[in-house]
Amino acid sequence: MRLIMFVSLTTAAAVIIAAAPVRLDPGPDPISRLDDCIQHRFLDAKVFGMRRILPMQYHGIRVFQPENATEQAVVDQLRQSGYEVALYLVGRHALAATSITQQMLVPRRSGVQGPASITPIHGGGNFPQPDTLLVDGRRALVSFQTGGGYDIRKAGWTVAMRPLRAGSPACVECHAAGTPGLKIGDPIGAALYVYRLSTAARESERVTSAPTSPPPPL
Ligand code: HEC
Repeated sequence: MRLIMFVSLTTAAAVIIAAAPVRLDPGPDPISRLDDCIQHRFLDAKVFGMRRILPMQYHGIRVFQPENATEQAVVDQLRQSGYEVALYLVGRHALAATSITQQMLVPRRSGVQGPASITPIHGGGNFPQPDTLLVDGRRALVSFQTGGGYDIRKAGWTVAMRPLRAGSPACVECHAAGTPGLKIGDPIGAALYVYRLSTAARESERVTSAPTSPPPPL
């Protein structure tokens, strides 16, 4: 009897799951697919750190170049939806706990690295200065020791903080030199996605979602 009830309950659950509508919209987190791409780039071992995002930055190219069809589709979708997006990196050398000597040895890695422009700002303008994100980036790195990603708002931008973790022994091997005691799963860096909807996209959203005006009085 119990068994029959169990079977019929699981069948009912299966029917409910099958009937659930398929979500086609990107959801409330527009940068989640971009973060998947960036996390993927950190698995490869040809170049390291910010060079994984901007391989040509020392030649002055600070615009993210998609390297495959998935990355291209993600960037295109963000641009077409009117998002202005940049990526910054904060590594463990930025933590105040790291010795002053180390910070002097690696000044670039002690600060916020970036921005890498993922989509341009419409009509000009600049993404936030890296220094303005240092305190938030440090706080994110510390909190990733025990928690996951989160978003904050800053000067009209959303800043999505996402951990870049030591996923393999290879990551630990290299990075333990700067961070003794580093284990698999620990955060090595924080990816900061700074984004907003362009003014034009916000305007058109406001117009399409505005309530229809009442009919004129007779
Ligand atoms: C062969 C050594 C090596 C391996 C393996 C390696 N890294 Fe790195 N990583 C580096 C170096 C060197 C830099 C600094 C590059 C620069 O900015 O000049 C770096 C930079 C970084 C940064 C940027 C923050 C910072 O400290 O400057 C992150 C995040 C990062 N690595 C994550 C990872 C992850 C995750 C893995 C494993 C999937 C990994 N690394 C594997 C050598 C390595």
